Amino acid sequence: MRIACLGGGPAGLYFAISMKLRDPAHNIDLYERNRSDDTFGWGVVFSDQTVENLMANDPVSGAVIRDEFAHWDDIEVHIHGETVRSSGHGFIGIGRKRLLNILQGRARALGVRLHFEQEASPDLADWAGYDLVIAADGANSRIRSAYATHFGVDTQLRRNRFFWFGTHKVFQAFTFAFEETAAGWVWAHAYRFDDDFSTFIVEMAPETWSGLGLDRMEQPEAIALCERIFARYLDGHALMSNARHLPGPQAWLQFRRIICERWSYDNLILLGDAAHTAHFSIGSGTKLALEDAIKLAEVLNRPGLPRERALEEYREERNLEVLKLQNSARNSTEWFETVERYLHFEPIQFAYSLLTRSQRVSHENLRLRDKPWLEGVERWFQSKALGVPVNDPAPPMFAPYRLRGLRLDNRVVVSPMAMYSARDGLPNDFHLVHYGTRAQGGAGLVYTEMTCVSPEGRITPGCAGIYADAHVRAWKRIVEFVHSNSRAKICLQLGHSGPKGSTKVGWEGYDVPLETGNWPVMAASDVPWSPDNQVPRPMTRSDMDEVSDQFVAAVRRGLEAGFDMIELHAAHGYLLSSFITPLTNKRTDNYGGSLANRLRFPLEVFRAMREAWPADRPMSVRISANDWMGELGVTPDEAVRIGQAFAEAGADLIDVSAGQTWADCTPVYGRMFQTPFADQIRNEGRVATMAVGNIYESDHVNSILAAGRADLVALARPHLIDPMWTLRAAAGHDYRGVHVPPQYLGGMAQLARNLAREAELKA
Ligand SMILES: Cc1cc2nc3c(=O)[nH]c(=O)nc-3n(C[C@H](O)[C@H](O)[C@H](O)COP(=O)(O)OP(=O)(O)OC[C@H]3O[C@@H](n4cnc5c(N)ncnc54)[C@H](O)[C@@H]3O)c2cc1C
Ligand SMILES: Cc1cc2nc3c(=O)[nH]c(=O)nc-3n(C[C@H](O)[C@H](O)[C@H](O)COP(=O)(O)O)c2cc1C
Repeated sequence: MRIACLGGGPAGLYFAISMKLRDPAHNIDLYERNRSDDTFGWGVVFSDQTVENLMANDPVSGAVIRDEFAHWDDIEVHIHGETVRSSGHGFIGIGRKRLLNILQGRARALGVRLHFEQEASPDLADWAGYDLVIAADGANSRIRSAYATHFGVDTQLRRNRFFWFGTHKVFQAFTFAFEETAAGWVWAHAYRFDDDFSTFIVEMAPETWSGLGLDRMEQPEAIALCERIFARYLDGHALMSNARHLPGPQAWLQFRRIICERWSYDNLILLGDAAHTAHFSIGSGTKLALEDAIKLAEVLNRPGLPRERALEEYREERNLEVLKLQNSARNSTEWFETVERYLHFEPIQFAYSLLTRSQRVSHENLRLRDKPWLEGVERWFQSKALGVPVNDPAPPMFAPYRLRGLRLDNRVVVSPMAMYSARDGLPNDFHLVHYGTRAQGGAGLVYTEMTCVSPEGRITPGCAGIYADAHVRAWKRIVEFVHSNSRAKICLQLGHSGPKGSTKVGWEGYDVPLETGNWPVMAASDVPWSPDNQVPRPMTRSDMDEVSDQFVAAVRRGLEAGFDMIELHAAHGYLLSSFITPLTNKRTDNYGGSLANRLRFPLEVFRAMREAWPADRPMSVRISANDWMGELGVTPDEAVRIGQAFAEAGADLIDVSAGQTWADCTPVYGRMFQTPFADQIRNEGRVATMAVGNIYESDHVNSILAAGRADLVALARPHLIDPMWTLRAAAGHDYRGVHVPPQYLGGMAQLARNLAREAELKA
């Protein structure tokens, strides 16, 4: 095949090499606009796995690259004048220039024709003599832009500014250095890549950048400023720029996240950064480029595979890898963009948060990397929770937590879950066994299902209520069982269904209207949940007073039943939520429009409840922190203000759920998918939060807590199937401090032994 490679970065060069290795008869021209030895950037980092892939593809260049790598294990985080050092991270680095020289040499030796200082035309017509044209011309690919509509390019320009410097200061650890300036925080990502060079990337928010005058500064002045800011790390070494040809402000880049729907058009194929980018803070762009090159060469040379099928396989396989990395990269990018949230953390927690920022590294990964360090984090966490220094490390999930006068044994919570098994609102033996078992299962706190404040406030005929004396007696029996047979505390979730009421029980179809026996429903406005649901009556002032009184009466009944805590359900599109979200609140009075107006009624209800509930007992509020409808609905930024408003009204904890407020919303599901909202509300709004949503492993729970992303963690569906979830987690960690009902002690000991044996075998 006659092939033109446009761009001589890692992708273009390695593709040319990989093609020649598979078939020396390929006729390859590579066009690079720069000279062979001038390149932007300094060093790049890889993982051991990438090197193995390179060795398998081309042992010749692989061995040279491997032998030249600088290896290091440690990460140092410098913040507030302290240094937190952890080990076992296993990085390898190489100079970008050196990597390109090795690849150029190998490509030449294999017969690839390299044309330097040749600007490649972005017009396919100019490449008519070639069977294949490879667009390996980097993130700003001109040829991709020329055919952008064919490739379905989605570009996102990220906000922070960064400058990729080099320095002769040789950093012995991968170093993150955070420094405060008069205009805000500035930080460096620094790592050694050979015996006398390090990469030193300086990053900051755009406000800091302009506040420091860098948007108007020429390079020598900007470099001198950065050298002063980071003087204590540089030991007198200079920062060097290899973007000297650019005017000062233009040398400060903003990262562009690129995704392409299609990776080929006609005989033009995208490769490396031209097809996708990954933020430099997770350091995987070069790895992706090299692995793309291997895969593309492999499919193009597989005997009998038609070109179209080959390109499909190339995109499918590589795109999966890219999406995984871009997901982690997005988390990491966002962490640096919102770093102000975490600056109040103690250095050890700040470092933990930084190390787990991409969510690729978890609590247990950190244990594998550096056990003594992780145990230091665990000791710190337990000491903070207990208020006294402790010597024995224990998983964060087993740290106690205090809410007003209530002490929880641990941080695991059984999330509220409607059981649809009551009759006329009355809980029965099913509820006794259900809540009793979950309390015995070791969680620190058990929530009841949404318990309704009136018959019309039920979602379904099977929903539990607390609007009659018989209900109080039934709940009291359950609460007393929990208190006398476990150490769990029990929280009563109170709610009113509003526009989602008068529907079938869950297993007959969520939110589907009853066929018979309907009751009229009300809401903030006359917006039905769906075209099939009833059009709700917009609430009048007297409706509001009545509902508020019902909530207060339910609180008093909850007190009589002996509950430890009350939660107000203001999420998921039910009555109070229908006021908060602008999607369903169309009112033009004092209860609609601005957020303050939309919160007015829910806050009135909450304040009235707070007054009726003892001052030493806590209250929480469940909110939908994201309507998943962009700016049309509640956004996570707005949720910070919602959380703060309830906290100012006396809420001790915000239970951070999301969605279910609009039938056609498009949630982005995934592991721990709602935790970012709990994190934002906690650390921007400085309000205690509970995270919930697809959290199912103790590793998730520990990672969330230790990183300060939430104060408590609720699990719903995992507890449906395994009421003993917390005891099982304790056995897995061989943690002995959890309360086990004495009747079950034998089972716990056996489980701990078996899990330890399994772990040993795995290791
Ligand atoms: C600050 C920063 C730090 C990074 N750190 C790391 C890291 O630690 N680890 C890592 O793996 N990756 C890192 N990357 C990413 C990495 O540099 C890229 O992902 C990688 O270089 C992609 O390789 P590529 O060949 O696709 O593109 P590039 O390396 O961008 O190569 C494209 C080449 O095409 C040439 N070119 C462009 N247009 C034309 C044209 N019209 N005609 C001819 N030639 C043209 C360019 O001169 C360039 O040589 C970092 C990136 C940045 C910005
Ligand atoms: C069967 C079932 C019933 C639920 N009922 C309620 C409820 O009554 N009140 C509430 O706030 N959330 C309710 N939820 C939502 C859960 O509390 C939780 O937020 C959601 O399931 C996500 O957590 P998970 O991924 O751990 O299941 C319910 C969830 C399930 C699965």
